[in-house]
Amino acid sequence: MGDGILGDETTGLQEWVRQRRVFLISSPSILELHSVVLRPLSERAANWHVLEVPEGEDAKSVGVAAGLWGEMLEAGAKRDSRVVAFGGGSVGDLAGFVAGCYMRGLEYVQVPTTLLAQVDASVGGKTAVNLVRAKNSVGLFNHPWRVVADTRLLATLPLEELRSGLMEVVKMAVLSDSELFSVLERDLEDLLEGDPAILTPVVAAAVQAKIDIVERDPTERSERMLLNLGHTLGHALEAGLDYQFLRHGEAVGYGILFAVRLAEERNLSVDTANRIRRLVERFELPRLPVLDPDALMRLICRDKKVNEGGWRWVLPVDLGGCEIVSDLTEAVVRRELEAFLAELESAR
Ligand SMILES: NC(=O)c1ccc[n+]([C@@H]2O[C@H](COP(=O)([O-])OP(=O)(O)OC[C@H]3O[C@@H](n4cnc5c(N)ncnc54)[C@H](O)[C@@H]3O)[C@@H](O)[C@H]2O)c1
Repeated sequence: MGDGILGDETTGLQEWVRQRRVFLISSPSILELHSVVLRPLSERAANWHVLEVPEGEDAKSVGVAAGLWGEMLEAGAKRDSRVVAFGGGSVGDLAGFVAGCYMRGLEYVQVPTTLLAQVDASVGGKTAVNLVRAKNSVGLFNHPWRVVADTRLLATLPLEELRSGLMEVVKMAVLSDSELFSVLERDLEDLLEGDPAILTPVVAAAVQAKIDIVERDPTERSERMLLNLGHTLGHALEAGLDYQFLRHGEAVGYGILFAVRLAEERNLSVDTANRIRRLVERFELPRLPVLDPDALMRLICRDKKVNEGGWRWVLPVDLGGCEIVSDLTEAVVRRELEAFLAELESAR
C-alpha cells in the first residue's frame, strides 16, 4: 500500500505477468480514468485482454461471471494465465470469484481503486456474486496472490464513495481498535477531504486490524464473523433496495446503528452507544425510503449469517470490542427493527 506504489517494481507484479496471458477485469469508467497506470504491466504480458464489466454492484451477477468465463475460454485462458481485478469491491468480488472457479482456479491480484476496497474488500479472500435479493450468496474463499493498494487512485473518487469506504474503517474501529475510533472522531472531516497523507495511516491501521482477525480465522468459523458487524441489516437493506439506493458502506452505517440499538438492550453503556451513534451520524447517511419491516425481516432471515444452528448477531460490548450473539429472539429483533424504522421516519 502506498502513494504511487503501482509504478514500483517491488510489488512484484511486473514479474508475475511476464510472458503470461493476462485478463484485466474492470469497468469502463475506471479504465478511462486509470488504465494508464497499468501500461508497464500490459507491456510485459505476453497477451493482455481487457474484460469490461458493468459499473458497481451490477457487475456481481452469475450472468456477468458466466459471460467472462466464455470470453476467457475464447481468448485461450489456461491454468497458468493471470487475472487482475482493477476496481472497487464490486469488481474485486466478481473477479476473485471468476478467477477462483475458472479451471479450478487461476492466480489473481487485487488492485483496488476505491477506499472501501483498499481498506476492506480486497483483503481476506472473500469473493462472491449476488443472487436476486440475496447478497454475496454464491462465492468462495479465494485469496489473491497479492493486493496492491495505490492510494493515488483515490484522487478521482467522489466524496460519497470516500464516505462509504470510511464506514468500514468505523466498523473496524468499533470492533477492535478504540484508538482508531478516537482518530476518526478527531479527524473525520479531514479524512473525508481524501488527502492521501492523512488517509494512508488510518487505512493501514484498519487493514492491519482486519488481517489480524483473518489470519486467526481465515474461513470464518468463529472470530472472523466479527467483521460482519453492521452487515446483517446492511445486506438486507442493500438487497431490499435492489442494490441501487445505498452504497455498501452506507448500508453498513445503518447496520451499525441498528446493532448499537440491540446492544444497548444488553450490556453496551449509553455513553459508548452515543459515541458510536454520533460518529456514524456525522456521515449524513442518505435518507431511507419507507421500508416494510416484514420484507426486511424476511431478507434478514435469508442472510447467510442465519445458519443451521440459528442466527448470529455481532453486537458491540465496548469501544474496540464486539461479541457474537445467538440468543436474540426473532420477536426482539422485529420489535427493535420496527422502532428503528419508525424513528428514522419521524426524523425526516
Ligand atoms: N470481499 C469482501 O471482503 C468485501 C468487504 C466489503 C465489501 N465488499 C463488497 O464490495 C462492494 C462495494 O465496493 P465499493 O464500495 O468499492 O463499490 P463499487 O466497486 O461498486 O464502486 C463504486 C463506484 O466507484 C467507481 N470507482 C471505482 N474506483 C474509482 C476511482 N478510483 N475513481 C472514481 N470512481 C471510481 C465505480 O465505477 C463505481 O461506480 C460490495 O459489493 C460489497 O459487498 C466485499
